[in-house]
Amino acid sequence: MILALSRAQGVILAVGGAIFLVVAGSVLLARGRVRRVEARPPDIPRAMRPGPSDPDLETPLLHKLQGWGVLLVVFFVIWIPMTWLFEPSRNLDQERALLTDSIARGANDVQLFSEENQGGVGCVRCHGQGLKGSVILNTTTNTPIPTPNLTTVCGGPWTGHPAIHGLDDIYATIEQGRAGTPMPSWSIRYAGALDDQQINDIVNYIVSIQDKSQVPFKHNVCINPAAQAAADKDFPNQPSPTGTGP
Ligand code: HEC
Repeated sequence: MILALSRAQGVILAVGGAIFLVVAGSVLLARGRVRRVEARPPDIPRAMRPGPSDPDLETPLLHKLQGWGVLLVVFFVIWIPMTWLFEPSRNLDQERALLTDSIARGANDVQLFSEENQGGVGCVRCHGQGLKGSVILNTTTNTPIPTPNLTTVCGGPWTGHPAIHGLDDIYATIEQGRAGTPMPSWSIRYAGALDDQQINDIVNYIVSIQDKSQVPFKHNVCINPAAQAAADKDFPNQPSPTGTGP
């Protein structure tokens, strides 16, 4: 199991562990010392020593054990509901942190490869600075080819991305590329260079940089299922996003 601890939690755990070790160690040492100083009692095995007297067993010992029992029950009565109550928000925080990290990785992945950015695959080379769209050159025919603006890709058909009706189409385009266009395939399953985690990071990043003025929630096919349904209904005969594959 992976323990997802924050730095503060780690420090508390380490300090607590150190204190426990010090206290336990000194208690053991102190006991050893006392033994050595005092005259040792006759060496009777524990199991054969006389037990506590009946009056002792009936009240002080019994009360002591019951007291510990009550304390334990009180502890669990508080601890279990607390854990249960805070579980959803803790999970949500963890999920948000994971998404933030994923977006940060995706932001680096789409930049050019460099010594500092070894994971960079350079989507910006074709899709332009900030993935806002650009123009590349077809070197065989010497004609310019415009590349799509990915900060509006979640607007699907409404913002000039007729083949995008949902996240699946974005994944498919990145994984498989577009046959007959310069858009290459990126998934290792289609002879590309990226694994699923990297593609996931990039898609999370793309979803996070959508231009809100052009892609209202109503038309955001990435995060709004109603927009997906509307795109399928209002723009039915769109070309498959991936052509025939590589
Ligand atoms: C060699 C140039 C090139 C590179 C590199 C490139 N793309 Fe593309 N991409 C294109 C072109 C050209 C298109 C338009 C294809 C078409 O006409 O359907 C496109 C289309 C897309 C689309 C679909 C947009 C739409 O409007 O349907 C997405 C999403 C996309 N690219 C993501 C990426 C990502 C992510 C990367 C980096 C991992 C990347 N591209 C790297 C050239 C490139």
